[in-house]
Amino acid sequence: MTTNPQPTAGAPATGGALTFPDGFVWGSATAAYQIEGAVAEDGRTPSIWDTFSHTPGKVSNGDTGDVADDHYHRVAEDVALMRSLGLTSYRFSIAWPRITPQVDADGLGPVNEAGIAFYSRLIDELTAAGISPAVTLYHWDLPQALEDAGGWTNRATAYRFAEYAALVTERLGDRLAMVITLNEPWCASYLGYASGVHAPGRADPVAALTAVHHLNLAHGLAVSAIRKAAPKLPVALTLNLAAVRAASDAPADVDAARRIDGLQNRVFLGPTLAGAYPADVLADTAGVTDWSFIQDGDTELIHQPIDALGLNYYSPTLVAGYDGTGQRPVDDGHGGGTGTPWVAAEGVSFLSQPGPRTAMNWPIDPRGLTELLVRLHTENPGLDLYVTENGAAFPDVVSADGSVVDPDRITYVGQHLAAVHAAIAAGAPVRGYYLWSLMDNFEWAYGYSKRFGIVYVDYATQARTVKASGTWFAGVIAANAVTAEADARA
Ligand code: FCB
Repeated sequence: MTTNPQPTAGAPATGGALTFPDGFVWGSATAAYQIEGAVAEDGRTPSIWDTFSHTPGKVSNGDTGDVADDHYHRVAEDVALMRSLGLTSYRFSIAWPRITPQVDADGLGPVNEAGIAFYSRLIDELTAAGISPAVTLYHWDLPQALEDAGGWTNRATAYRFAEYAALVTERLGDRLAMVITLNEPWCASYLGYASGVHAPGRADPVAALTAVHHLNLAHGLAVSAIRKAAPKLPVALTLNLAAVRAASDAPADVDAARRIDGLQNRVFLGPTLAGAYPADVLADTAGVTDWSFIQDGDTELIHQPIDALGLNYYSPTLVAGYDGTGQRPVDDGHGGGTGTPWVAAEGVSFLSQPGPRTAMNWPIDPRGLTELLVRLHTENPGLDLYVTENGAAFPDVVSADGSVVDPDRITYVGQHLAAVHAAIAAGAPVRGYYLWSLMDNFEWAYGYSKRFGIVYVDYATQARTVKASGTWFAGVIAANAVTAEADARA
């Protein structure tokens, strides 16, 4: 937590050459539901995102992931694109409903060989292209049948997830560079079960905190299961931690920052990396739940050694104390109304941070990335760190000649790479950076209205065009540095 934020003035990140350590991993990231399409092919059954996106009013323009980037049918073309950019790694997620389409709360059901074959082919293509595969097992597409049985509020879901994790890593693990259990359990729990802006769209604070615990449990059980199934495979967890800033040094503001740091960060970091839920978080949330869904021994099950922590970083969060008078501001830096405000955070205002913003209306502040990486290193010496997502949506324009020139994205990524470099210089063992995203895709509740790609996708034709930022990023990778030369390639 920090106080007294200064807005980022857009300082140039690329004035001098910032060289990264040898072997630094340069990747790009995607997620299954956002790119694959083919939602009813080869045995796949619906996930909560199929149900949610087909529910009127939930996603902008009524968009769904039915076709998305049609990646399911374009694997060879997409891997060739990655190769042309020089990526050394690719982070993608596996769609659980392709692997065990008949799962229910009592068991996984039979393995769908067609699902395994699809990812096996993708891994082969990547390996042939010299790109190391990093797999996320859960990027939010819970099988609908499990949600029907309570979803993440049902403890059984955590056990089914661990079985699915074992199955996938047993079959594919020897060809993976890294496996990530969960992507952003904060979103899965708070956005899915408290604010309801993500699938499954529930608005129940008790359900959200129950989901928090069962996601933590799912992670721990999965780590143990993966260790047995694929003993040599590095295992990680990806969290979207908030760089929480207090509006001032006033005690009420500092306490607000403590509460949000607890609800957003420490409720995940505590059990997974330190073996206990923070006492202040349990106290802060006592009015919502007594946490009796935590069973004896759970914290031991959750607290399994991991090989790396993945950090997804987009923007900071600015908070102040709220004394109950007037309307409570809830612009939490992510467009407002994103979940945390609705769970035991009554005494907190979420303020609008001044300074530049992306098309998501997210404040641009790379210093938060340095702060978080340094904090993670300080709190967990020896633990390898990755930036598993970072990137930005901007309103891209296709020029008459078909090119897409996106200087804002280059500036954003350049500044955040400088922030990563600063964290490394301060001693944080950051091993790699995955840019979100390889290509424009289904941006959850925003549908196709927000473009995060370094490759432009024409959704009518599925044509892919490398944006100026993609060419620029290829230059960064080739130089293993952010240099003036890399800038000039854009
Ligand atoms: C993250 C998600 C990712 C993408 C980016 C913009 O929260 O993990 O799928 O939507 O935000």
